[in-house]
Amino acid sequence: MGDRDQAIMDALPEAPVTPAADALEGWRSGVVYQVYPRSFSDTDGDGVGDLAGILDHLDYLNDGSPDSLGIDAIWLSPIYPSAGFDSGYDVSDYSAIDRIFGTLADFERLVAEAHRRGIRVILDLVLNHTSHLHPWFVESRASRTGLRSDWYIWRDPAGYSPAGRPRRPNNWVSFFGGPAWTWDATREQFYLHTFLPQQPDLNWRNPAVRAAVLEIIRTWLDRGVDGFRFDVFNAFFKHADLPSNPYRLGGRRAYSRQVHLYDKNQPELVELLAEIRQIVDELPGRMTVGELFEGSVRQAAAYTAPGHLIFDFSLIRQPWSARAFARAIAEREAAFGPGGWPTIVLSNHDQSRSASRYDDGPHGDARVKVAATLLMTLRGTPFLYYGEEIGLRDVAVPWAEIQDPAARRSRFLSSWWNRDQARAPMPWGPGPIAGFSTARPWLRMSPESATRNVASQTADPGSVLSYYRRLIWLRRSRSALSVGSYEEVGIGDASVFAYLRRAADQAALVVLGFGRRAVTVALPESPSGRPWRAVLSTHDPLPPAGDRLELRPLEAVIFVDD
Ligand code: NOJ
Repeated sequence: MGDRDQAIMDALPEAPVTPAADALEGWRSGVVYQVYPRSFSDTDGDGVGDLAGILDHLDYLNDGSPDSLGIDAIWLSPIYPSAGFDSGYDVSDYSAIDRIFGTLADFERLVAEAHRRGIRVILDLVLNHTSHLHPWFVESRASRTGLRSDWYIWRDPAGYSPAGRPRRPNNWVSFFGGPAWTWDATREQFYLHTFLPQQPDLNWRNPAVRAAVLEIIRTWLDRGVDGFRFDVFNAFFKHADLPSNPYRLGGRRAYSRQVHLYDKNQPELVELLAEIRQIVDELPGRMTVGELFEGSVRQAAAYTAPGHLIFDFSLIRQPWSARAFARAIAEREAAFGPGGWPTIVLSNHDQSRSASRYDDGPHGDARVKVAATLLMTLRGTPFLYYGEEIGLRDVAVPWAEIQDPAARRSRFLSSWWNRDQARAPMPWGPGPIAGFSTARPWLRMSPESATRNVASQTADPGSVLSYYRRLIWLRRSRSALSVGSYEEVGIGDASVFAYLRRAADQAALVVLGFGRRAVTVALPESPSGRPWRAVLSTHDPLPPAGDRLELRPLEAVIFVDD
């Protein structure tokens, strides 16, 4: 662990080993479903998803019966007015709703209807940067002396080249490629942007910025939201003196060829997080989840607190291997300890979908179901990305159709993945636009939509969706699977990963077969001494009770001992 991690660890209050049975419990036991609003469901026929479309599918998400998916909360990727340079992650008004998604009244209706079904609503707050068109930045760039002149990170040039070109203040680079500094001819200064030049970084050291942002958080809490996902929260503070970062060897992109000592994870963050968390905690049952921007599981664990989760993306990076997952999870468990609470993420709007990463054939869903079992039964709060529940794959988007501006720009600056591929519209049923819209969708549909859609998978008991429903409702009914402790179980075969979950007098044994060959494994003795009984398998029929298991190729089984 680095000194910085240790400092963060020391500064944060230790999470209680046995968390109080209070409102936080929901954030440990619940399943969060990420909606990418643009791609979920379009009701007004403009080819772009909207809030009314989400409302229309709340029953699909959870109507209280096992015929629905059974999730507990939805996280909406940004829905605020935006200039669209980073698909909503460049916000130009934090308190309003972008017209393409609907109105504030639509949002309030969505929250009320979600709450009526016991579904909580989490908003995505993008507070490291605003849009360059946000009135704050427009005012800030207008003069060096105005009211908001110090709301962003402005710096004089570090001298001029012989040709009179201003030199950048330090060596920082943008995550999306190119320098992290853009020259502004009016102020004759550079401004900092960790992402696109259209996403200037806020100056969190300015108390007025801090007050304005905390007010935004209060506004949305007053409007009834249940929590927030904080975009790249660990980049909010930069070192006050803005020193250049040291270089490192080996990274593919300029951003990864630096050690990010000074442009994120600064000690001041700890106190800011405490203040934000205190505001959120004033209301019972609220939560936050911070997106750790390029950090380690140790950092994720250090920033985590009861009711305040942190994404780490270590599981997304694992290849399809029982050993690789077992190792990564052992590392997470060691970092978080029994009192810490991790998140479980296999897919999101920035990454290749898990069904594509693990794809083992054009229509094979066997690995997808094993991955689903992992996602829903590991210790931690699972985040399910829309479409993941039907095994949606990445969709190849030709260059001419690319919408992700970061991808268009970075094509020339660095090798950046086109994130559109993981953002295809949700296929709800058969037909050319698969029930997503009545117009040409903003992004092309998956070529598989005619067969891989919600309606066809609902009708098929062997589908990924039917499996997810059984899995999530099983998780809901067994506290061992949701909030229980975790212990890896050695099962004597390198292609199998198994673990025990325990809560009070309940136990569950999860056996995940990563291999293509059938194997026979010995099951450990159950805590109750009774034989293990299979309650769910990816395959039909369920394996018989007993102390040995004939695991079929790519089979996942969940056992209980009561
Ligand atoms: C992380 C978000 O998930 C990503 O979509 C976005 O481009 C960057 N943060 C910048 O806001």
